[in-house]
Amino acid sequence: MDKIILLDFGSQTTQLIGRRIRELGVYTEILSGETDLGPLLEETSRNGGTAGTLRGIILSGSPESVYAPDAPAPDKRIYSCGLPLLGICYGLQRMNFDNGGKVAPLPKREYGGIKVTVRGSTFTAWMSHGDTLTELAPGFIETGRSETGYPAVVVHGEKPWYGLQFHPEVTHCERGTEILSSFVFGICRCRKSWSMKAYVETVRSELAARVGASPVLLLISGGVDSTVAAALLLKTLPPSQVHLMYMDTGLMRKDETAQVKRALEKLGAQHVHIVMCETEFLSALKGLSEPELKRKVIGDLFITIQERETARLNLPDSYFLAQGTLYTDLIESGKGVGKKAHVIKSHHNVGSPLVETKRKEGRIIEPLDKLYKDEVRALGRLLKVDEDVVRRHPFPGPGLAVRILGEVTKEKCDILREADAIFIDELKKRPGPQLAGKAGSSSLYDDIWQAFAVLLPVRSVGVAGDVRKYGWVLALRAITSADGMTADVYPFPPKDLLEISTRITNTVKDVGRVTYDISSKPPATIEWE
Ligand code: XMP
Repeated sequence: MDKIILLDFGSQTTQLIGRRIRELGVYTEILSGETDLGPLLEETSRNGGTAGTLRGIILSGSPESVYAPDAPAPDKRIYSCGLPLLGICYGLQRMNFDNGGKVAPLPKREYGGIKVTVRGSTFTAWMSHGDTLTELAPGFIETGRSETGYPAVVVHGEKPWYGLQFHPEVTHCERGTEILSSFVFGICRCRKSWSMKAYVETVRSELAARVGASPVLLLISGGVDSTVAAALLLKTLPPSQVHLMYMDTGLMRKDETAQVKRALEKLGAQHVHIVMCETEFLSALKGLSEPELKRKVIGDLFITIQERETARLNLPDSYFLAQGTLYTDLIESGKGVGKKAHVIKSHHNVGSPLVETKRKEGRIIEPLDKLYKDEVRALGRLLKVDEDVVRRHPFPGPGLAVRILGEVTKEKCDILREADAIFIDELKKRPGPQLAGKAGSSSLYDDIWQAFAVLLPVRSVGVAGDVRKYGWVLALRAITSADGMTADVYPFPPKDLLEISTRITNTVKDVGRVTYDISSKPPATIEWE
């Protein structure tokens, strides 16, 4: 399979570049910008200069400046390996600087749509940079310039090296896909070999060979990732070999447990172990209101119950532990460049001794670890996972506990569950503005990356009939995002918000007032705790 390597220098859009190229049908892998590329390049040259599969290298953007003393720099061998290079923003500045050119700060940072002219043709590109090339490295030629008077496209006279000051991966960049496509196909000569079908075939045969007749245990959260991982296991191994464990913590959304069970059984699951542990969680949380403490108590209890319940299954020691880790859970995005960490967000896994032990034994299976979230959704559809699960918004491991500010009680969970279910139901019923190009039925829900209600620890005054009453204040949150790392507020048409608020206050009697959270991330986070 042909592939393109992306060297990540910390840009927020590195993952987006990867996804865009995969959408073109070519496999991409993101490596920390400073990775030692020796082994990979040696393998490439052994395979006759085309790396067998490695066909080109992209250098990403970065918040850094190349002239800063500790600016991230690539392995210098990329400049002698003969492979095509594409530098994007900082990547271009890096290539120019490393090869003897000069880079300096702009008088004023450029951000957003800016026209560029490349060989007589003008289009709107998308910029985000504080530095510019002030002197081209020997051999580099400027072929495009921005309307503001700076080099926008640079090519090398003899080597297959290209550089863009703008970001072709951003959808607002006109001709962005065409540019990426001409690099990948025209210059790197990649063949289209990345498709979900091909991926599934490879993963399934590897999985079957590795697992043999051993049982596999998968911890299910009810979200898209673990359910799709379950589907993949169930379509690969005999269902009698697959054990699925799900904990109902009492901090789940309305009807969630029943839906999860139904979806798994529809996929042919034979061993669905539902652990009912609401009482344990609520008593552990009693009296606690400090967010980090709540998270810690929940995390610890997850581990305790997971160990207790796993032991009760009496699986042989040779069993494999599977988890729905995604590609994006494994790579660092934008932070700590050069220190690729094994970050796993899912609550089941953080520091879990069971995961650690199984990893040491080489008995961990992560069949989605090469996929992005939207690819997991596509895989889910291919494997016939319920559409309701496939399109489901992300949900945090600690569940409603981080959406009930302050102390968590059963009563508050019930109020929040009702209000949240109404919000989500309304979003699913209301048509979204982006009807074209989206799989499944297109609604406001599908247009939004994540939406939920939050119960605040305040009551406010209101009237019911002629009586004054004090009702809880509820906040609605809806955001757009590519990966949860940054988020923008969803710009609802006011009509939708007004009608949804009315339905909530009319139906959930304990909620007296509804507000809409208009904070982006950063500086706010998506969740409130
Ligand atoms: P924040 O609130 O950090 O959230 O902006 C980013 C994304 O991560 C989800 N999230 C969590 N997921 N365990 C999880 O599995 C957690 O403890 C957790 N905290 C936040 C959040 O819902 C959003 O999608």
